[in-house]
Amino acid sequence: MAQLALGNVSKTYRPRGKEQVQAVKRVSLDVKDGEIVALLGSSGCGKTSMLRMIAGFEEVTEGTIRIGGKEIHNLPPAQRDVAMAFEGYSLYPPLKVRENIGFALLRERGASADIEKRVSHIAELLEITDILDRYPTVISAGQQQRTSLARALIRRAPVSLLDEPMSQLEPQLRAILRARLKDYLIEHKMTTVFVTHDQTEAIALADRIAVMEKGELQQFGTPAEIKQSPSNLFVASFIGEPPMNIFDAAIASEGNAVAISGLGPNGEPAFRLNAPMEAANGKRVCLGIRPHLIEIGANGSADATGRVITNHWLGDQSHICFEIGGCSVVGVTDKPIDARAGDALPVRFPLGAVHLFDAESGRALAHGLGQR
Ligand SMILES: Nc1ncnc2c1ncn2[C@@H]1O[C@H](COP(=O)(O)OP(=O)(O)O)[C@@H](O)[C@H]1O
Ligand SMILES: [Mg+2]
Repeated sequence: MAQLALGNVSKTYRPRGKEQVQAVKRVSLDVKDGEIVALLGSSGCGKTSMLRMIAGFEEVTEGTIRIGGKEIHNLPPAQRDVAMAFEGYSLYPPLKVRENIGFALLRERGASADIEKRVSHIAELLEITDILDRYPTVISAGQQQRTSLARALIRRAPVSLLDEPMSQLEPQLRAILRARLKDYLIEHKMTTVFVTHDQTEAIALADRIAVMEKGELQQFGTPAEIKQSPSNLFVASFIGEPPMNIFDAAIASEGNAVAISGLGPNGEPAFRLNAPMEAANGKRVCLGIRPHLIEIGANGSADATGRVITNHWLGDQSHICFEIGGCSVVGVTDKPIDARAGDALPVRFPLGAVHLFDAESGRALAHGLGQR
């Protein structure tokens, strides 16, 4: 049984005197017991609205939310067994950091020695031991954020919801705390949904990622599934840095084979497949390939010639921007490439690395195109 299950959940805000906003559209999501799930998407796509509905701070407009099989979406927040770290921290100003963190345990009538021990432990984990006796108004935003995170984590609630829990931290500290947070969540088998707009954070922390855009769930899968088999053009271009190269192309059936022609002047990039693709025949498609899977400077068997626009060595990899048939393409290599702007470079697109999408709907048609 899923620990947390959202069934066709929608949220429409109807602010007085303003246009209504459909913030979440029919989202269904099953989070397993002890699973860590990331809600990933750009600002305004409905992530906070989702968390607030699960916690009970916003009503669902339509749909159901269950925890352990029991419908909870009509219960008040205190009866939902959910702990939440808010995007805006919401600390109690009259209470010291230490009291803010321990407050919920006190309310649950924990023994005070035990509470103290747990507060010190979580404070150490999040590097806020030195501010435990300060008040929220005199600590930095990053410290407030960690206090809020500590207050949610310490409860080890059946479901924990963390809204952008580390957005205020500088990258180094964020990377360290990310690893500790993951260990803590796993150690206590905490079912967790966290919100982030940072794909590195989502990939590093989550068992599965829910990619959202404009209130809709685009794909729900493991980091590897989302990266290797993006379900549509949005997910394909949203995940991965630098983003996937996307070309407009056309597919034409040739007996038992299929030719894919790029829309460049010489039809670059062009491929021939051995399997007929009925679903795609005659269709306008988008062809995608990730920058680090393009083979640059390939000897023989090149698919196209690229004209170098820029070539930068970043210390551990090269980012090369080149032009093929009017399209600009980015390639990444782990070795420096000896080429300057204007040079011609042979380029190969390994078939296994090519994705096809329906140009109209954006839906994925194929991931990897088999053998040439
Ligand atoms: N209380 C509210 N009243 C009206 N519109 C809101 C309210 N809260 C959020 N929204 C709108 O709903 C959409 C989703 O917001 P939100 O869930 O905060 O997104 P995210 O957390 O992904 O940035 C946005 O367009 C936002 O402006
Ligand atoms: Mg938000």
